[in-house]
Amino acid sequence: MKYRQARWELGKNILEPTVFELGKIGEGGVIVAKPDNRIVEEVGALEEIFPRNLIRDHINLPGLTEPEVARHFNHLAQMNFGVDSGPYWLGSCTMKYTPKLVMRLASYRELRKLHPYAPEEVAQGILKILYELQKMLSIITGLTHFTLQPAAGAHGELVGALIIRKRFLDLGERRDEMIIPDSAHGSNFASAAMAGFKIVRIPPSDEGTIDLNALRAAINERTAGMMITNPNTLGIFESDILEVAEMLHENGSYLYYDGANLNAIMGWIRLSDMGVDLAHFNMHKTFSAPHGGGGPGAGAVGVNDELREYLPIPVIVREGNMYRLDYNLPKSIGKVRTFYGNVGVLVKAWAYLKLLGSEGVRISSGVAVLNANYARKKLMDMGFEVPYGKNRPCKHEFVLSLSNFRREYGIKALDFAKALIDRGYHPPTIYFPPIVHEAFMMEPTESDSLRDIDGYIDAMGEIKRLAKEKPSEILNAPQNAAITRIDEVLANRRLWLTWKIYKESEEGKS
Ligand SMILES: Cc1ncc(COP(=O)(O)O)c(C=O)c1O
Repeated sequence: MKYRQARWELGKNILEPTVFELGKIGEGGVIVAKPDNRIVEEVGALEEIFPRNLIRDHINLPGLTEPEVARHFNHLAQMNFGVDSGPYWLGSCTMKYTPKLVMRLASYRELRKLHPYAPEEVAQGILKILYELQKMLSIITGLTHFTLQPAAGAHGELVGALIIRKRFLDLGERRDEMIIPDSAHGSNFASAAMAGFKIVRIPPSDEGTIDLNALRAAINERTAGMMITNPNTLGIFESDILEVAEMLHENGSYLYYDGANLNAIMGWIRLSDMGVDLAHFNMHKTFSAPHGGGGPGAGAVGVNDELREYLPIPVIVREGNMYRLDYNLPKSIGKVRTFYGNVGVLVKAWAYLKLLGSEGVRISSGVAVLNANYARKKLMDMGFEVPYGKNRPCKHEFVLSLSNFRREYGIKALDFAKALIDRGYHPPTIYFPPIVHEAFMMEPTESDSLRDIDGYIDAMGEIKRLAKEKPSEILNAPQNAAITRIDEVLANRRLWLTWKIYKESEEGKS
């Protein structure tokens, strides 16, 4: 039987209506008692209290009964696809399962209700949790000092780039160039540019890794640093990482590590041993609590001793048995976030690490790597093309190129992705990294069982067969989802992000 996602009205393309379409003005809703006549007699009717010519005739709020509201939101929730719905191999995004215990701990009343301005003496519990999270991240990465303030991975990158900039301002050196490999995540380029750096791009080698000759040619006296992802966005480990670090350090430049996904090396390799000076880590990927649609996240930044003084203020310190927010860091880049970051996400990361312990940390990343290699091998055996690094193991993710399907049958990576939705699998990341044509970037994580992985691979095999035998079925997918094929171009061009804007534009047409 084919997977069928929740759908609430019979007929093609009919979706759950909005509350405005569902409700009837003046009906349903919570009943509030009408004014008591004795009060009205005493103080007069409301129409006499407000100026009559300003009083509105009606208010267009939708009226629904409580069961209608409950059902509506249930329907909407079931139209979503989340990590709890099925395999979600969204490469580079590490969509791993969040244990329910983690969710319970993070929703403790004492944590949820704590006021962000609570004085340090009454916030000792949360300060201790955050301090311990920093220590655990330090043990895992080898970087000595941390801030947990940045609100996302890209925000962490910006903090890292600002730290490097401040350091060179302090040293009185004019270093305004940042080297970034072509395969890097797009946010690296944007963050470095926002911090005022000129971007120097370097192309990958034929193997998809850093080309040492290209790097040598790019390094000069203006080089502030280099931003790298390792394993890179092709899922390949940069085995020349020590040479890379040495070349940069000899030139007085810093090695920045995009640790958005630490899932491949967590518990196996320390960043400090790779020569990394500073890095950010997405709490909302590697440490469970995956996010979508932009947040909320947390992009902790770790630095070595040399860069410690530049961290954003305040930093969390321990004095005896007390924890404190320390603002006394004269060289700090300043404050980067209100209060102390997205604390809810940080608590989930802390709980996740406590739950796993040292052994669990290693097992989770190890299983993620093995799962990715198994899936890649099976797909390669079926004839799928791996354009980079096919002769060596991948790490936590891998990238297929579906360009031959486009060439031979007119089936694009997008069509393949849509057909996976029909089979109950969240599509992988497509068209990234841009150095791969018709890219299909897959990351199974440790959350999936062998049965899940085999199911995903079978679905890929079925779509491959249909691409050749019955391409129309793939081109019209998804048919079994709450939302079928959408007009991607229109969706990007016309940002109807609210019902009101949509309604107005519809009315404008008629
Ligand atoms: C490699 C890499 N770097 C940076 C980021 C940015 O993280 P965020 O989306 O939290 O800003 C991502 C997120 O997709 C990523 O995969």
